[in-house]
Amino acid sequence: MATYLVTGGAGFIGSHLVEELLRRGETVRVADNFSTGLRANVPEGVEVFEGDIADEAFAARAVAGCDYVLHQAAIPSVPRSVAEPITTNRANVDGTLAVLVAARDAGVRRVVFAGSSSVYGNSAVLPKREDMRPNPLTPYALQKLVAEQYCQMFTRLYGLETVTTRYFNVFGPRQQPGSPYSGVISLFIDALANRRQPTIHGDGRQTRDFTYVGDVVRGVLAACTAPDVAGEVFNVAVGGRISLLELYGTLQRIFDVEIEPVFGPPREGDVRDSQADIARAREKLGFEPQMSFEDGLRATVDWYRSTTAGVPR
Ligand code: UD1
Repeated sequence: MATYLVTGGAGFIGSHLVEELLRRGETVRVADNFSTGLRANVPEGVEVFEGDIADEAFAARAVAGCDYVLHQAAIPSVPRSVAEPITTNRANVDGTLAVLVAARDAGVRRVVFAGSSSVYGNSAVLPKREDMRPNPLTPYALQKLVAEQYCQMFTRLYGLETVTTRYFNVFGPRQQPGSPYSGVISLFIDALANRRQPTIHGDGRQTRDFTYVGDVVRGVLAACTAPDVAGEVFNVAVGGRISLLELYGTLQRIFDVEIEPVFGPPREGDVRDSQADIARAREKLGFEPQMSFEDGLRATVDWYRSTTAGVPR
């Protein structure tokens, strides 16, 4: 058994990692500033370090004594990074650098970093493979790219084992709809549950490789223990491509309602199509997505109905 630090452990993806690690009998610690994470997401008995992960002294305290660090803390929004490039850079780049320095100094066995499919931008070729040339279109995408390159550099320069898992539009229970920067699935569910019209930015024909959070958890934990992958980058996704119109149609069926969406202008810096090639994760991590899109949506809707606007009752 080992000790794991989950940065951003009170957030959406982080809290699912915490839950699964506890289920496996591991010792878990959470570092979070509760800017978007919720205390209610952290199970009883988990040690919580509250603070700013970009603060070197705080990062060092949180990392000390840990075997593995799952670095999930971030401000995870493309449009928010367009509005606030400096604040998001501090969280997403400085935060990662502080974690890497702390992990190097503490002799951590491996850091797994939450990367993003946004680094691919609008490259013409689909599906997107890890060795394609990145083309960041927004501060968020560039921040995630710089952070993963810092990870690789720390492996080469200092021998610290790092692995980047590039996420593609993750959804599931505990994704909060409370902000205009929230993920599209949480916003659409919130709208339909309250019989409101959601807004579709653009024509709705843009596509995403929507991935259920439980599949992401298995990918990240595999990246933590797989042999001979230090310094590598893996797409962790389904390998599919679903348009917003299809997503919205499926949700209307699940809610058994018909509500016309409002079509607004396309979002600045929006990627048109996103689909992962997951061959590398399959081969080296033994990763296989398990949840079907519709079952994942149903599980997410069930969770939403058990909460008040996404916040646990
Ligand atoms: C991006 C990244 C993803 C990253 C995530 C962090 C890509 C392909 N994906 O997701 O890797 O982890 O940010 O948040 O870059 N939309 C609407 N109506 C809404 C909200 C969104 O139509 O109310 C549209 C957006 O314009 C976009 C799609 O839905 O086309 C998905 O948006 P969002 O959920 O914000 O995620 P991405 O920006 O794709």
